Amino acid sequence: MKRTVLVTGGAGSLGFASAMALAEEGANVAIADLSATAAEEAAAALPGGPHIGVAIDVSDEASVAEAFDAAESALGPVAVLVTFAGYIGQAVDEARPSLADFDLPRWEKLFAINTRGTFLCLREMARRRRETPVTDGRIITVASAAGQLGGYQANAGYIASKGAVLSLTKGAARDLAPLGITVNSIAPGPIDTPMLAEARGKGEGDKGFANLAMLPAGRIGRPGEIAAAVRYLASVDAGFVTGSTLDINGGLRMQ
Ligand SMILES: NC(=O)c1ccc[n+]([C@@H]2O[C@H](COP(=O)([O-])OP(=O)(O)OC[C@H]3O[C@@H](n4cnc5c(N)ncnc54)[C@H](O)[C@@H]3O)[C@@H](O)[C@H]2O)c1
Repeated sequence: MKRTVLVTGGAGSLGFASAMALAEEGANVAIADLSATAAEEAAAALPGGPHIGVAIDVSDEASVAEAFDAAESALGPVAVLVTFAGYIGQAVDEARPSLADFDLPRWEKLFAINTRGTFLCLREMARRRRETPVTDGRIITVASAAGQLGGYQANAGYIASKGAVLSLTKGAARDLAPLGITVNSIAPGPIDTPMLAEARGKGEGDKGFANLAMLPAGRIGRPGEIAAAVRYLASVDAGFVTGSTLDINGGLRMQ
Protein backbone atom coordinates (compact mmCIF):
# COMPACT_ATOMS: atom_id res chain seq x y z
CA MET A 1 0.00 0.00 0.00
CA LYS A 2 1.28 3.51 -0.83
CA ARG A 3 1.73 5.27 2.49
CA THR A 4 4.00 8.05 3.63
CA VAL A 5 6.49 6.92 6.25
CA LEU A 6 8.87 9.17 8.20
CA VAL A 7 11.85 7.44 9.84
CA THR A 8 14.01 9.51 12.19
CA GLY A 9 17.57 8.26 12.46
CA GLY A 10 16.82 6.69 9.10
CA ALA A 11 20.41 6.95 7.89
CA GLY A 12 21.54 4.83 10.87
CA SER A 13 21.83 1.06 11.02
CA LEU A 14 18.42 0.04 12.35
CA GLY A 15 16.54 3.02 10.92
CA PHE A 16 17.81 2.33 7.42
CA ALA A 17 17.05 -1.41 7.63
CA SER A 18 13.48 -0.55 8.64
CA ALA A 19 13.12 2.13 5.95
CA MET A 20 14.25 -0.47 3.43
CA ALA A 21 11.66 -3.01 4.65
CA LEU A 22 8.86 -0.44 4.38
CA ALA A 23 10.02 0.79 0.97
CA GLU A 24 10.03 -2.81 -0.27
CA GLU A 25 6.37 -2.97 0.71
CA GLY A 26 5.63 0.08 -1.45
CA ALA A 27 5.78 2.92 1.07
CA ASN A 28 7.08 6.40 0.21
CA VAL A 29 9.75 7.05 2.79
CA ALA A 30 11.13 10.27 4.22
CA ILE A 31 14.50 9.50 5.78
CA ALA A 32 15.17 12.12 8.46
CA ASP A 33 18.60 12.36 10.06
CA LEU A 34 21.09 14.90 11.40
CA SER A 35 23.00 15.10 8.13
CA ALA A 36 20.94 16.07 5.09
CA THR A 37 23.54 14.44 2.84
CA ALA A 38 23.43 11.14 4.71
CA ALA A 39 19.62 11.22 4.69
CA GLU A 40 19.51 11.93 0.94
CA GLU A 41 22.02 9.16 0.18
CA ALA A 42 20.02 6.70 2.27
CA ALA A 43 16.77 7.70 0.55
CA ALA A 44 18.41 7.30 -2.86
CA ALA A 45 19.36 3.72 -1.97
CA LEU A 46 15.75 2.64 -1.33
CA PRO A 47 13.74 0.74 -3.94
CA GLY A 48 10.54 2.20 -5.41
CA GLY A 49 9.58 5.67 -4.38
CA PRO A 50 9.51 8.56 -4.54
CA HIS A 51 11.49 8.84 -1.32
CA ILE A 52 13.24 11.87 0.15
CA GLY A 53 16.00 12.60 2.63
CA VAL A 54 15.55 15.50 5.04
CA ALA A 55 17.64 17.03 7.80
CA ILE A 56 16.27 16.83 11.32
CA ASP A 57 17.55 17.43 14.82
CA VAL A 58 14.91 15.64 16.88
CA SER A 59 15.89 17.56 20.00
CA ASP A 60 14.93 20.86 18.34
CA GLU A 61 11.26 21.85 18.13
CA ALA A 62 11.59 23.99 14.99
CA SER A 63 13.71 21.40 13.19
CA VAL A 64 11.12 18.69 13.82
CA ALA A 65 8.36 20.88 12.37
CA GLU A 66 10.52 21.72 9.34
CA ALA A 67 11.30 18.07 8.64
CA PHE A 68 7.60 17.17 8.76
CA ASP A 69 6.87 20.12 6.45
CA ALA A 70 9.44 18.91 3.95
CA ALA A 71 8.24 15.29 4.12
CA GLU A 72 4.56 16.17 3.79
CA SER A 73 4.96 18.70 0.99
CA ALA A 74 6.89 16.09 -1.03
CA LEU A 75 5.05 12.90 -0.08
CA GLY A 76 1.75 13.82 1.60
CA PRO A 77 0.54 13.33 5.20
CA VAL A 78 2.74 11.06 7.29
CA ALA A 79 0.79 7.90 8.10
CA VAL A 80 3.62 6.01 9.78
CA LEU A 81 6.23 7.56 12.08
CA VAL A 82 9.20 5.51 13.28
CA THR A 83 11.58 7.16 15.77
CA PHE A 84 15.00 5.54 15.55
CA ALA A 85 17.08 8.68 16.21
CA GLY A 86 19.08 7.91 19.32
CA TYR A 87 22.26 8.48 21.27
CA ILE A 88 24.14 6.00 23.46
CA GLY A 89 25.89 8.63 25.59
CA GLN A 90 29.51 7.65 25.23
CA ALA A 91 32.22 7.46 22.59
CA VAL A 92 33.52 4.15 21.31
CA ASP A 93 36.92 4.62 22.96
CA GLU A 94 35.55 5.96 26.24
CA ALA A 95 35.07 4.03 29.47
CA ARG A 96 31.42 3.66 30.43
CA PRO A 97 30.60 6.48 32.84
CA SER A 98 29.35 5.24 36.19
CA LEU A 99 26.75 7.19 38.13
CA ALA A 100 29.18 8.94 40.45
CA ASP A 101 31.05 10.32 37.45
CA PHE A 102 27.99 11.12 35.33
CA ASP A 103 28.16 14.75 34.24
CA LEU A 104 25.04 16.83 33.72
CA PRO A 105 25.68 17.76 30.04
CA ARG A 106 25.86 14.08 29.14
CA TRP A 107 22.62 13.39 31.02
CA GLU A 108 20.90 16.36 29.36
CA LYS A 109 22.04 15.32 25.89
CA LEU A 110 20.75 11.77 26.37
CA PHE A 111 17.35 13.07 27.41
CA ALA A 112 17.33 15.78 24.71
CA ILE A 113 17.80 13.25 21.90
CA ASN A 114 16.25 10.03 23.19
CA THR A 115 13.35 11.35 25.26
CA ARG A 116 12.55 14.94 24.26
CA GLY A 117 13.29 14.00 20.63
CA THR A 118 10.72 11.20 20.74
CA PHE A 119 8.19 13.49 22.44
CA LEU A 120 8.64 16.28 19.87
CA CYS A 121 8.18 13.90 16.94
CA LEU A 122 5.09 12.27 18.48
CA ARG A 123 3.58 15.65 19.29
CA GLU A 124 4.21 16.91 15.76
CA MET A 125 2.52 13.84 14.32
CA ALA A 126 -0.42 14.24 16.72
CA ARG A 127 -0.95 17.88 15.80
CA ARG A 128 -0.83 17.20 12.08
CA ARG A 129 -3.12 14.20 12.15
CA ARG A 130 -5.62 16.11 14.26
CA GLU A 131 -5.80 18.61 11.37
CA THR A 132 -5.45 16.10 8.54
CA PRO A 133 -6.46 12.61 9.65
CA VAL A 134 -5.15 9.45 7.99
CA THR A 135 -6.56 5.96 8.17
CA ASP A 136 -4.56 3.35 10.07
CA GLY A 137 -2.00 5.80 11.47
CA ARG A 138 0.99 4.17 13.12
CA ILE A 139 3.75 5.34 15.45
CA ILE A 140 6.60 3.05 16.42
CA THR A 141 8.98 4.33 19.09
CA VAL A 142 12.36 2.82 19.82
CA ALA A 143 13.21 1.93 23.40
CA SER A 144 15.74 -0.71 24.44
CA ALA A 145 15.96 -3.83 26.54
CA ALA A 146 18.37 -1.70 28.57
CA GLY A 147 15.44 0.51 29.58
CA GLN A 148 13.54 -2.54 30.82
CA LEU A 149 16.31 -4.52 32.49
CA GLY A 150 18.70 -1.94 33.80
CA GLY A 151 21.08 -2.66 30.96
CA TYR A 152 24.08 -4.94 31.20
CA GLN A 153 26.46 -2.65 29.37
CA ALA A 154 24.66 0.66 28.84
CA ASN A 155 25.13 3.68 31.08
CA ALA A 156 22.52 4.88 33.58
CA GLY A 157 21.50 7.97 31.59
CA TYR A 158 20.79 5.94 28.45
CA ILE A 159 18.82 3.40 30.47
CA ALA A 160 16.71 6.14 32.07
CA SER A 161 16.10 7.97 28.79
CA LYS A 162 14.84 4.77 27.15
CA GLY A 163 12.69 3.91 30.17
CA ALA A 164 10.96 7.25 29.63
CA VAL A 165 10.31 6.32 25.98
CA LEU A 166 8.46 3.20 27.14
CA SER A 167 6.19 5.24 29.40
CA LEU A 168 5.66 8.02 26.85
CA THR A 169 4.55 5.40 24.33
CA LYS A 170 1.75 4.27 26.63
CA GLY A 171 0.56 7.82 27.25
CA ALA A 172 0.64 8.58 23.54
CA ALA A 173 -1.26 5.37 22.73
CA ARG A 174 -4.08 6.47 25.00
CA ASP A 175 -4.19 10.02 23.63
CA LEU A 176 -3.94 9.14 19.94
CA ALA A 177 -6.39 6.22 19.84
CA PRO A 178 -9.28 8.58 19.01
CA LEU A 179 -7.32 9.71 15.94
CA GLY A 180 -7.03 6.10 14.76
CA ILE A 181 -3.29 6.05 15.42
CA THR A 182 -1.67 3.13 17.22
CA VAL A 183 1.49 3.81 19.22
CA ASN A 184 3.82 0.96 20.11
CA SER A 185 7.42 0.59 21.13
CA ILE A 186 10.06 -1.87 20.11
CA ALA A 187 12.65 -2.84 22.69
CA PRO A 188 15.67 -4.31 20.92
CA GLY A 189 18.20 -6.35 22.80
CA PRO A 190 21.79 -6.33 21.52
CA ILE A 191 21.78 -5.94 17.75
CA ASP A 192 24.82 -6.15 15.50
CA THR A 193 25.46 -2.43 14.86
CA PRO A 194 28.24 0.08 15.61
CA MET A 195 26.15 1.47 18.48
CA LEU A 196 26.41 -1.85 20.27
CA ALA A 197 30.18 -1.57 20.08
CA GLU A 198 30.02 1.96 21.51
CA ALA A 199 27.90 0.81 24.44
CA ARG A 200 30.70 -1.43 25.59
CA GLY A 201 33.14 0.74 27.50
CA LYS A 202 36.85 0.92 26.79
CA GLY A 203 38.75 -1.93 28.38
CA GLU A 204 35.74 -4.22 28.57
CA GLY A 205 37.02 -6.72 26.05
CA ASP A 206 35.96 -7.12 22.46
CA LYS A 207 33.20 -5.06 20.92
CA GLY A 208 30.47 -7.69 20.94
CA PHE A 209 27.83 -8.18 23.60
CA ALA A 210 29.40 -8.84 26.98
CA ASN A 211 26.79 -11.29 28.21
CA LEU A 212 26.15 -13.71 25.36
CA ALA A 213 25.54 -16.55 27.82
CA MET A 214 22.42 -14.70 29.01
CA LEU A 215 20.84 -14.87 25.57
CA PRO A 216 18.88 -18.11 25.01
CA ALA A 217 19.20 -17.43 21.27
CA GLY A 218 22.98 -17.74 21.66
CA ARG A 219 23.70 -14.81 19.37
CA ILE A 220 23.07 -11.11 19.02
CA GLY A 221 20.32 -9.86 16.71
CA ARG A 222 20.43 -8.63 13.13
CA PRO A 223 19.08 -5.29 11.86
CA GLY A 224 16.68 -7.16 9.55
CA GLU A 225 15.06 -8.73 12.61
CA ILE A 226 14.27 -5.25 13.95
CA ALA A 227 12.94 -4.18 10.55
CA ALA A 228 10.58 -7.17 10.51
CA ALA A 229 9.05 -6.03 13.80
CA VAL A 230 8.63 -2.49 12.49
CA ARG A 231 6.98 -3.82 9.33
CA TYR A 232 4.45 -5.72 11.45
CA LEU A 233 3.62 -2.82 13.79
CA ALA A 234 3.29 -0.49 10.78
CA SER A 235 0.88 -2.83 9.03
CA VAL A 236 -2.88 -2.37 8.81
CA ASP A 237 -3.25 -5.83 10.36
CA ALA A 238 -1.67 -4.57 13.60
CA GLY A 239 -4.59 -2.19 14.18
CA PHE A 240 -5.62 -3.76 17.52
CA VAL A 241 -2.11 -3.51 18.98
CA THR A 242 -1.45 -0.27 20.81
CA GLY A 243 0.44 0.82 23.91
CA SER A 244 2.49 -2.35 23.72
CA THR A 245 6.19 -3.08 23.76
CA LEU A 246 7.53 -5.66 21.35
CA ASP A 247 10.63 -7.35 22.77
CA ILE A 248 13.17 -8.35 20.14
CA ASN A 249 15.97 -9.63 22.28
CA GLY A 250 16.76 -13.31 21.71
CA GLY A 251 15.10 -14.19 25.02
CA LEU A 252 17.25 -11.84 27.11
CA ARG A 253 14.09 -10.71 28.87
CA MET A 254 10.93 -12.82 29.11
CA GLN A 255 7.71 -11.87 30.82
N1 LIG B 1 22.03 -1.28 18.19
C1 LIG B 1 21.49 -1.82 19.26
O1 LIG B 1 21.91 -2.86 19.76
C2 LIG B 1 20.27 -1.14 19.88
C3 LIG B 1 19.64 -1.80 20.95
C4 LIG B 1 18.53 -1.19 21.54
C5 LIG B 1 18.08 0.03 21.07
N2 LIG B 1 18.71 0.64 20.03
C6 LIG B 1 18.19 1.93 19.58
O2 LIG B 1 17.94 1.87 18.19
C7 LIG B 1 18.09 3.17 17.62
C8 LIG B 1 19.01 3.09 16.41
O3 LIG B 1 20.23 2.55 16.82
P1 LIG B 1 21.37 2.12 15.77
O4 LIG B 1 22.08 0.96 16.35
O5 LIG B 1 20.80 2.04 14.41
O6 LIG B 1 22.37 3.37 15.92
P2 LIG B 1 22.92 4.39 14.82
O7 LIG B 1 23.90 5.23 15.54
O8 LIG B 1 23.36 3.64 13.60
O9 LIG B 1 21.62 5.24 14.43
C9 LIG B 1 21.19 6.33 15.18
C10 LIG B 1 20.86 7.45 14.21
O10 LIG B 1 20.31 8.53 14.94
C11 LIG B 1 20.81 9.72 14.38
N3 LIG B 1 20.73 10.80 15.35
C12 LIG B 1 21.47 10.99 16.46
N4 LIG B 1 21.12 12.13 17.07
C13 LIG B 1 20.13 12.68 16.33
C14 LIG B 1 19.36 13.86 16.43
N5 LIG B 1 19.53 14.73 17.43
N6 LIG B 1 18.43 14.11 15.50
C15 LIG B 1 18.25 13.24 14.47
N7 LIG B 1 18.95 12.11 14.31
C16 LIG B 1 19.88 11.83 15.23
C17 LIG B 1 22.24 9.39 13.99
O11 LIG B 1 22.75 10.31 13.04
C18 LIG B 1 22.09 7.98 13.47
O12 LIG B 1 21.87 7.95 12.06
C19 LIG B 1 18.61 4.07 18.75
O13 LIG B 1 17.54 4.80 19.31
C20 LIG B 1 19.14 3.07 19.76
O14 LIG B 1 19.12 3.58 21.07
C21 LIG B 1 19.81 0.08 19.43
